[in-house]
This record gives sequence, structure tokens and C-alpha cells, in this order.
Amino acid sequence: MSKIPFSEKTYDVVIIGGGGSGLRASLEIAKSGLDVAVISKVFPTRSHTVAAQGGITCAIASADPNDDWRWHMFDTVKGSDYIGDQDAIEYMCSEGPETVFELEHMGLPFSRFENGRIYQRPFGGQSKEFGEGGQAARTCAAADRTGHALLHTLYQANLKAGTNFLNEWFAVDLIEGKSGCIAGVSCFDMETGEVSIIKTQAVVLATGGAGQVYEQNTTSLICTGDGLGMVLRKNFALQDMEMWQFHPTGLYGNGSLMTEGCRGEGGYLINSEGERFMPTYAPKAKDLASRDVVSRCIVQEIMAGRGCGDKKDHVLLKIDHLGAEAIMKKLPEIREISMTFANVDPINEPIPVVPTCHYMMGGIPTNINGQVITQENGKDRVVDGLYSIGEAANVSVHGANRLGGNSLLDLVVFGRSAGKHINKQFKKGEVSDISNAEIEKSLSTLQTLEDTKKGETVYALRSEMQSIMQNYFGVYRNEKLIKEGIKKLEDVNVRTKNLHMNDKSKQFNSEKVEILEYLNLIEIANATAYSALERKESRGAHAREDYPERDDANWLCHSLFFKDGNKVSKRDVNLNPKEVEAFKPKARVY
Ligand code: FUM
Repeated sequence: MSKIPFSEKTYDVVIIGGGGSGLRASLEIAKSGLDVAVISKVFPTRSHTVAAQGGITCAIASADPNDDWRWHMFDTVKGSDYIGDQDAIEYMCSEGPETVFELEHMGLPFSRFENGRIYQRPFGGQSKEFGEGGQAARTCAAADRTGHALLHTLYQANLKAGTNFLNEWFAVDLIEGKSGCIAGVSCFDMETGEVSIIKTQAVVLATGGAGQVYEQNTTSLICTGDGLGMVLRKNFALQDMEMWQFHPTGLYGNGSLMTEGCRGEGGYLINSEGERFMPTYAPKAKDLASRDVVSRCIVQEIMAGRGCGDKKDHVLLKIDHLGAEAIMKKLPEIREISMTFANVDPINEPIPVVPTCHYMMGGIPTNINGQVITQENGKDRVVDGLYSIGEAANVSVHGANRLGGNSLLDLVVFGRSAGKHINKQFKKGEVSDISNAEIEKSLSTLQTLEDTKKGETVYALRSEMQSIMQNYFGVYRNEKLIKEGIKKLEDVNVRTKNLHMNDKSKQFNSEKVEILEYLNLIEIANATAYSALERKESRGAHAREDYPERDDANWLCHSLFFKDGNKVSKRDVNLNPKEVEAFKPKARVY
């Protein structure tokens, strides 16, 4: 029985997460007149979207008047290594231009071509004419601070639309209503420690990625997959959790993102012999091959002894030949980060980089309206009252490998579509009833933490988990490595049961927050490990040394992970776009 005191609040819709997808959804909903609240564990403009650099990919035909969303769709399906859902990719690429122009009209300060149109730069995996017409330039940019510009624009639009914000609040668990749908969430105000039960008609999980599961990552400390933890604790499914993107150019030693825009603007990678190596591996696209390919090539260069530095464990990104003026205009943030964290001015010398965990392709399965899907007895079921969007969701437009710039597009396209669906589905002022037993259940973790007397600290457990993920579930995998990793994770799972919260204070209890975040991360580590063991092929970001080929006969499908028994099953990929013919799997060469 929980002794935790709580108060109750009611909103028509609750969005958990104040990043790009959450704020795009809340804007749509607030404008319709429904009472919507955004719960964010940081001030919304500090959400991880703010760190997105290179841009938002979309066929708005500024750089090339003939550009076509179907070419973008082809590139995205190919980039996904054919397990992206083609209905969702078609929707994202065809709706994209309208959503980008909406942002422009809200005031997003895009960079411009001389003719005044939005600036677009080349990014990895982009082509014209279904791969036959050479490199495309499709990524719309605000210098190298596109996420920053996008997030601030959306936040301001939300203030105008009357969205309610619960800033620096932490969402703990989902609550089921008496009718069986999701009807609430337990949460607390981090400043005061006061707990609330929020009753609502719809919960939208827009909680972002979980890059903190790895030791070296480009993500903010807040990227702890909180929504995924909530879903797993309800024993709903997660999809394609073996698919983690390693960005080829994380800053060596620090992990900060060095945008793909560096290579889009003409930069390239060199090894310890000063040799530009990508043309050997990807003769057509070279340094702008897709991320999974470039990351593997860097690892191969390092393994062959051609890594740079004393430890020969990284490569160099050369952009000095672009000239000081172009670097300061188009890549100012890159210069600042390199100088601050690597003591390197890229105007004069190359930047040390290494593949670094950047993005979670897997996530909470949804349809294109953002409704969460789980499976029961092998059949899809919509979870009523529950939505997910953005990096937390797996709709699935990225499949086994996301193309750069498609993340920001995913956020706004599906944030908007979920908002529209919710507006149609729900009427102002209605809430479902919630039983006391369900409220108790949603407070049980908080109560357990209050009751602990001694045990393991979260800090030791989290760093052990991160090190296991880094060393056993990285760019290359094999069965022996995966099984060793699982064994080590099992030990961490056992020790997690003995976790102790030393600080019992209420106000700004950061230990409590870190424990709750860790409890979400460890679930995600488990989901990744068992899904990686099950997929016996190499596809996209999942490179198995013991199964080096893609196996379409057995694995042209999603993997689904359930927490109960760490079970993994298969789910069909959607190969039925509405307007265009499906793109059939072929060998993926760049
Ligand atoms: O390299 C980048 O600017 C990252 C973009 C992305 O992940 O979409």
C-alpha cells in the first residue's frame, strides 16, 4: 500500500516530452481548443531537439527545382535497408514540404540561397531520380543550428496557442482507466517533489531517444528513453530495438556531434596516412554514403591499423579546404565545439572523430496517426488512449538505418498527424475513470525507493550498463559477444533489484531522478540485447560478423520485444504505400 501523498489534475491530453515532436503535437491540439499539457523534465527549449545541427530533409525543391518527394521516399526506403514501413515513409516524404513551409511561416530562421529560398545542403544517402541521377541536396538548414531554431519557433507558437507547460516535472508511469484504455500518468514536480496523478483522455509519449544507454554518445544526459520504460512495464511491445545508429563523426574523446553537414559542404575523412579512404569503399557516394556504411568503414580503417593519434583509435574530418568564410557562415557551431572541446580550430586543422551512438531507430510501434500498437497472440492491437511520436516511436520510417535530416522531419510530420488524430478523436472535458488500485500501481516504484535502507548505488550500475552496451553491442556484433554481453547484463539486472536511494529529500532530488531514468535505461539495454541476439543477419546498423549477409527470406521483418520473459517475435513490414508502387528490396550500394 502506497503512503505517497498526491494531488489530482485533469487535462484533455497530456504530452510527455517538450522536444520537437511533443511541441508540434501540442501546438496542433492547443489550436483546436482541447486543454493540453506538456510535461517536460527540462525547460522545453533545453530538450534534445535543440542539439540537432545539419537540418531537416525534405523535397521542397529549392536547391533543385525538379526534386521530387518520391526520390526522397526511394532514398529513405533504401537507407532503411528495406525494413522501413513504406506507407509511413510515403506519408512522411509527401507531407514533408507542407510541414516545412508551415515552420517557415511560423518564423523559423532558415538559411537562404541568394534567390531567397530556403537553403538546402547535400546529406548522406541522398540521390536524384531514384538513385540514377547523382547526389541530391535536400537538407533544409539554419546554418548548423537547425534544431535550435526549430525548437524555439515551436515553443513560441505554443505559448501563443495557450499550451499548458509543466516544466521540470518527471513522468513515472502510465495508468490504465476502468474502461481498459490508458487514462492517466503518475508524475512529480522536481522542484518540490510533490506527486500528481494526471487524468486525461490521451497520453502522448514524446520522450525522445535513449542514447545514454551507451557510454559514448552524441545525446543529452536527458535521453533516457523514459516513455519506452513505461511501455515495457505495461508489457506492450518495442520494435527493432537492435537498430542503433552510430554517427560516423562524433568528436573524439567528447562525443559531441560533428554534423554530417561538414561532409555535405565538401569535407571528407582521412586516415593516419592522410588518405581519403571513403572512395575505396563507396565509389559513388564517397563520404556521403549512408551512416551505417561510413561508420563501418571507419571501424575497418581503425582495425587495419590506419587509425590516428597515439592509440590509433579514431580518424580525422578535414574541412579546412572549405575556407574560413564558409566555415564561419555555414558551420559556426562546429568550429566553436571543436575549439572548446578538442582544442582544434577546423579552419586550420582536421577534427578528430569516431563513430558514436547517435540515434535509436527502434522504439514504440505506432501507426501513422501516432497510435501505439502492441501485439496479442501474434495480432496487432491499438492501445486506446496511448500515442507515441518522434524518436521514442517506431512508426517506422527509419527501419534499420536512418538518413541524416530525416529525424527532424519525422518529429514535425508525425507530431502534426498525431495532433490531428487526437483532435478528431476526443471531445473537450471528458475523462475516463481510474481505479484506486491502478493509481497505487503507478506509485509503487516511488514507494519502493522511499523504503530502501541499503544497497547498490545507481551511479555504479549505470556506468556498468553503459560499458557493457558499448563493448558488446557496438557497430559490429557476433553471437559470442552478444551472449557474453547478455550474461553481464543479467548480473546488472540482479543487482538492480537491490538498488538503494540514499537521498530521501523532496526538493530537487536528483538521485531519485537518476534512479528512475536508469530503471528505464536498463529495460532498453535488455530489449536491445535480446533483439540483437535474435536477428541472425546483417541489415543496416545491425552488422553481425557471424551472419554477414542480409537475409530477406527470413528477416525482411520487424522484431518485437516483450519484457515478460525477454521474448522476441517477428512483425510484418508494411510494403503497401498508397500512391506509388512499393520499392522492392535490392542490393544496397552507394
Ligand atoms: O549530422 C547531423 O547534423 C545530424 C543530423 C541528424 O541526425 O539528422
